[in-house]
Amino acid sequence: MSSNPAVPARPIAIIGGTGPAGMGLALRWARAGETIIIGSRDEQRAQLAAAAIQLKVGNQANVSGMENGAACSAADILVLTVPFEGQAALLKQLKPAMTEGSILIDATVPLAASLGGRASRTLGVWQGSAAQQTAELVPREVSVVAAFHNVSADLLQGDAPLDCDVIVCSDDPDAAQLTRELAAKIPGVRAIDGGRLENARIVEQITALLIGLNIRHKGHAGIRITGLPPAAYR
Ligand SMILES: NC(=O)c1ccc[n+]([C@@H]2O[C@H](COP(=O)([O-])OP(=O)(O)OC[C@H]3O[C@@H](n4cnc5c(N)ncnc54)[C@H](OP(=O)(O)O)[C@@H]3O)[C@@H](O)[C@H]2O)c1
Repeated sequence: MSSNPAVPARPIAIIGGTGPAGMGLALRWARAGETIIIGSRDEQRAQLAAAAIQLKVGNQANVSGMENGAACSAADILVLTVPFEGQAALLKQLKPAMTEGSILIDATVPLAASLGGRASRTLGVWQGSAAQQTAELVPREVSVVAAFHNVSADLLQGDAPLDCDVIVCSDDPDAAQLTRELAAKIPGVRAIDGGRLENARIVEQITALLIGLNIRHKGHAGIRITGLPPAAYR
């Protein structure tokens, strides 16, 4: 990740990047000049998804597609956008491919729909949150950040600026700061330090509320946090 053209960009690998959430983040970051690797269980599906982003963004886009394990090995900024039911097994499988010092940004929401329940409810997670479960499953040298739970994937895949704040939670301040910088590259998004990773439990649950609001009012709800000093909003 760099705004200086002389410094080579750090690729961002989006694991499970072929779904709406991953595709939306990939699109916005590709437009911002980031180097993106779309990860998938199927290499060909990843390449098709990458080609779709390339088509939307144009020749300047730097997007490729790889099988999830190869994507993990090729990047030290990883973004996890898979359904909760697949999260643990996938992380166990990918663990050996993760490099020391990597950052894993987890957007997983433990929705009850993952196990046949309602989309507007969350499941109880033994560790406290999906992000804390992730932290237990990755190598010790990988920093976990929770972010992007409350952003609508539909809106991310569009062209308009988003009307949404992104709350970023992590026990690693440097990883959290890098994530806030990435979030702020999405037009309309303000990134806010949400404190320790354990707060992800609350942020993940807000998504279930937003889904319920979307069902009731037929919209794409997001969140805005008000009343903080300007320096709190990146
Ligand atoms: N949709 C939203 O608006 C939104 C917003 C914020 C956060 N989120 C969260 O972000 C995550 C992804 O959301 P999404 O709507 O993009 O999900 P999705 O479409 O259901 O899944 C994303 C991708 O994950 C892979 N995948 C599916 N099942 C898997 C499994 N059992 N094991 C491993 N990989 C699997 C698939 O890619 P391949 O088949 O190509 O491997 C799929 O394209 C979820 O946890 C969701 O709660 C979603």
